[in-house]
Amino acid sequence: MKSRSSARGEPRRFGNVALLALMLCSLVALSLIRARFSPIGNTAVAETIKVEDPKPVVVSKPAVAAEAGDGTDEATAVAVEEDKDEEAQPKDEEVQPKTEHAVDATVRPAKAAVAVDASKPVCYETSRRSDTCEAAGDVRLVGRTQTIYVDTLEREWKTRPYCRKHDTYALSHVKEWSLKPFPSGDGAAPKCTSNSSATAFVISTGGFTGNPFHDYTDVLIPAFITAHRFAGEVQFLVSSYKSWWMSRYIQIFQQMSRYEVVDIDADDEVRCYPSAVVGPTFHKELGVDPSKAPSGVSVADFRKMLRSAFGLERATATPSGDRWDIRRRPRLLIISRRTSRGRAFMNERAMADMAGSLGFDVRIGDPDTTSDTSKFARLVNSCDVMVGVHGAGLTNMVFLPAGAVLVQVVPYGRLEWLARNTFAEPSAGMEVHYLEYVVQLDETTLSEQYPSDHLVLKDPMAIHKQGWDALKTTYLDKQNVRPHLGRLKKTFLQALKMLPHGRDD
Ligand SMILES: *[C@@H]1O[C@H](CO)[C@@H](O)[C@H](O)[C@H]1NC(C)=O
Repeated sequence: MKSRSSARGEPRRFGNVALLALMLCSLVALSLIRARFSPIGNTAVAETIKVEDPKPVVVSKPAVAAEAGDGTDEATAVAVEEDKDEEAQPKDEEVQPKTEHAVDATVRPAKAAVAVDASKPVCYETSRRSDTCEAAGDVRLVGRTQTIYVDTLEREWKTRPYCRKHDTYALSHVKEWSLKPFPSGDGAAPKCTSNSSATAFVISTGGFTGNPFHDYTDVLIPAFITAHRFAGEVQFLVSSYKSWWMSRYIQIFQQMSRYEVVDIDADDEVRCYPSAVVGPTFHKELGVDPSKAPSGVSVADFRKMLRSAFGLERATATPSGDRWDIRRRPRLLIISRRTSRGRAFMNERAMADMAGSLGFDVRIGDPDTTSDTSKFARLVNSCDVMVGVHGAGLTNMVFLPAGAVLVQVVPYGRLEWLARNTFAEPSAGMEVHYLEYVVQLDETTLSEQYPSDHLVLKDPMAIHKQGWDALKTTYLDKQNVRPHLGRLKKTFLQALKMLPHGRDD
C-alpha cells in the first residue's frame, strides 16, 4: 500500500532559543486550527474510502422480484434516478415514523439499556432509504402478529424493516411491524415464554432479496452496520424468512450474532428481551460511511467479517511465492453466464486465451452453477482480477482481496450511470481498483437482433425514456456481448499494471 513520505523541511537552526519557542507555539496553534477545520480527521483514511454519496437510486419494478431466487441477476432493479420520488410518493403507513418527530419523551431512560440509545426517538430515519426503531425496557415480541410490546412506550409506532422505504413495490413484500405500549386495563401484555439477555434485531428478507446485489446492499451490509455495536449479543429475528436464502448467508449471520436466527413470522413464542432494534441502517450502495456509523465501522470491517465467515485467506492481492514461482502469476476470473439469461460473454474462451497469453492464470466461473456461497467466494478471493458484465455476478467483488482489480463490462445502451452507482463507486470503499469496458455497437448481439437504423441501436436514451422495464428488457435481459479482443487486451494490460505481481518487492 501507499506510504506517505513526509516532506517536512528541517527547521533552520537559530541560536535564538526564544525564536524557536515562538515558532513551536505558532506551529501548535496552526495544527489546532487545521484539525478543527478539516472535515474528517484522518485524511489518509478518507481518501481510500471516500465514495461520492450516490444519487438516490430508487428501485422500481416487479420484474426483479419475479427473478428473485434465481441467482445472480444483480442490480437490475437499481435504476431510474428518482429524486422526485422523495416528495411525490405518499407513505402508505399511517403511523410512519419520521425524523421530524424527533424530540420525543416516549422512552424513559432504559434500565437494562444494552447499547440502545434511549435519548433518540423510538423510530427515526437513519438514511433517505431506511428507518430504524429502537426501544429498551420490558420488550415482549410476538412474531405471529409482528407486534412488539414495550413497557416504556407511550404511543404506537409502525415500520417496515427493509432499506427501501420509498419503494412501494419492494415494501409490498415486507411485513409491517408495530411497537406498542403495554395494553392498559385488563388486557395485560402477553407472558414471556422465552427470555433472552441479547438485543432483539428484526429484519426482513422480503423486498428484492434473492438478487445478490440487493441481498448485500439492502440487507446484509445494513444489518452489519446496525449489529456491529452489539458484538454478537444480538438475536436476528427474520421476517419473510426464506430458508433457501438463509442457507446461502447463514455463515454471515453466525459471525454477527451468537444466537440462533429465528423465522419470526412462524414463531409461536413470546420472546422477551431488554431491548429491541427494528430495521437495519442503510448508508450507501454496497458501502458503509464510517462517519455515520455509531461504532465507526467500515466496509473493510464488513469484508473482514466475510473472510471469517467463508474462510477466505487473502486480505490483499499479494502474490504468493517468490518472483520465479509459477504460482506468482496473477489470477483472472471471467464471470460466465448462460446466454439465455442475457449479459453473457459470447467469446469467453477466446477472452481466456488472450488473458492467458498476457501471463494470467485464467479461471472461468459461473456463480449460477453453485448454490455453495463459500465455494464461489473462495474462488473469487483467490483471484487478482475479476471480469464480468454489469449485474451478472459482479457483487462477488465483496470477496476480492484489497488491491485486486474489478473490470466491469458495461453493455451497449448508455448504461454508464447505472454501472457507476452500482459497482464503480462501491469498489473504492472496498479498496478494489476499478476498470470499465464499455461495449460498442459492433460488440453487442443487439446489432444482430435489430436493423441498424432501429431506435434501440441509434438512440438508447429514447428507450431509457420509456422507463425501467423497457430499458431492462432491451439492454439487460436480451443482450449478450462479444468484446473486441484487441481492445479488451488493453484493459487487461492496464489491470496487470495495477497489481503488485510484476514488481520485485
Ligand atoms: C422470564 O423472565 C421473567 C421475569 O424475570 C420471569 O417471570 C419468567 O418466568 C421468565 N420466563 C421464562 C420462560 O424463563
